[in-house]
Amino acid sequence: MELSQFGEKLTSKTGILQLMDDLGKAMSGKEKMYMLGGGNPAHITQMEELFRKRMQEILDNKDEFERMVGNYTTSQGDIDFIHAVVAFFKKTYGWNITTKNVCALTGGQTTFFFLFNMLAGKFSDGSSKKILFPLVPEYIGYADQGITDDIFTANKPIIKIIDEHTFKYFIDFESLKITKDIAAICVSRPTNPTGNVVTDEEVHKLLDLAKKHKIPLMIDNAYGAPFPGIIFTKTNPILDDNIIYVVSLSKLGLPSVRTSIVIAKEEIIKHLTSINAIVNLTATTIGQHIVTPLLQSGEITKLSQTVIKPFYQRKSNEAIAYLQKHMNQSNPYYIHKSEGALFLWLWLKDLPIKSMELYERLKKRKVLVVPGNYFYPGFRGKWKHRDECVRITYSQREEDVKAGLKIIAETINEAYNK
Ligand SMILES: Cc1ncc(COP(=O)(O)O)c(C=O)c1O
Repeated sequence: MELSQFGEKLTSKTGILQLMDDLGKAMSGKEKMYMLGGGNPAHITQMEELFRKRMQEILDNKDEFERMVGNYTTSQGDIDFIHAVVAFFKKTYGWNITTKNVCALTGGQTTFFFLFNMLAGKFSDGSSKKILFPLVPEYIGYADQGITDDIFTANKPIIKIIDEHTFKYFIDFESLKITKDIAAICVSRPTNPTGNVVTDEEVHKLLDLAKKHKIPLMIDNAYGAPFPGIIFTKTNPILDDNIIYVVSLSKLGLPSVRTSIVIAKEEIIKHLTSINAIVNLTATTIGQHIVTPLLQSGEITKLSQTVIKPFYQRKSNEAIAYLQKHMNQSNPYYIHKSEGALFLWLWLKDLPIKSMELYERLKKRKVLVVPGNYFYPGFRGKWKHRDECVRITYSQREEDVKAGLKIIAETINEAYNK
């Protein structure tokens, strides 16, 4: 079949699609695999019980179920939900926003697809613009989202060694150039895959740059503040006319309700709402109904801080301790400082094999991780580091994480020894 450029772009077998295929095939076999590769949030009993209770309330509450499944909402979202979001962010952060600054869309993935293609790509005067990732490694899911080619560019970070086996990335502001063809800046905070949290100081510096160049700064809070709050450092979220703040319900434990929230200046919300009307008509309503009273009562913040965050913090600490126990300490390996999200990011400095080969060896031993070379959307330079890292998810069951980590450590120790 002959496809349009759009069709070709979105159906071509990119590296990540091939890898997903590969993971799918590996999982469909009969043998047990240790799935330390995916991004699914954990099933946290307390959250599951709460969502079940909310569903029951919806069923018991007069005609709420019928309204939830039987009505299209506006393209901006469910009106009660939008009001609840405004009141929540006003109360939580003192943000001076109105309903014109908020919309609900079908998940962070769709939201960024809309934002990237709305702001970057080809312009009617013949020029082209790009989205800048000021720090890579960055989220793998951004990589193939451009409808036109070449809409991303990225900057290499500074690496700071924190202790014998820990490091952290920082934005290299000296080399960060905002040229005329930069349409917007984008960071995930915490970052998937590294668990890095760009500091408040870095966010302020990015915002200053964005303001100076009159471009938006997108902050992807898929794991961050105020919910699900899987962020282990202290941060003070800020909003500004130049910031597009994106939040998702997925990592609260609701990935299948496909709901995200965007907070931005009126013009951005208007454009997103128009695109949403064309692509989706409206967002899905189930997540909005489940969460509205939790926003109104503030329970969502309380649960993020007292249930979700401690859950992942504990899993992260345990995974690091367990991995350290099995790794040969004389090897020059480093774990990125775990500041949030669901992942450990391992830098295997000077490992004699590339991370792709390590991935293959681990797959043969029934452990799935994601090789690090995929997490560089828009990065064109050569950098050995790119092939020296892997992403490990620690959100799965403790026995599986432990069994997988032991095999990972043994496989890495062997590779260093050859
Ligand atoms: C950094 C980041 N942004 C966005 C998404 C998209 O999430 P969703 O579409 O479920 O909101 C993910 C998913 O894992 C992610 O890790």
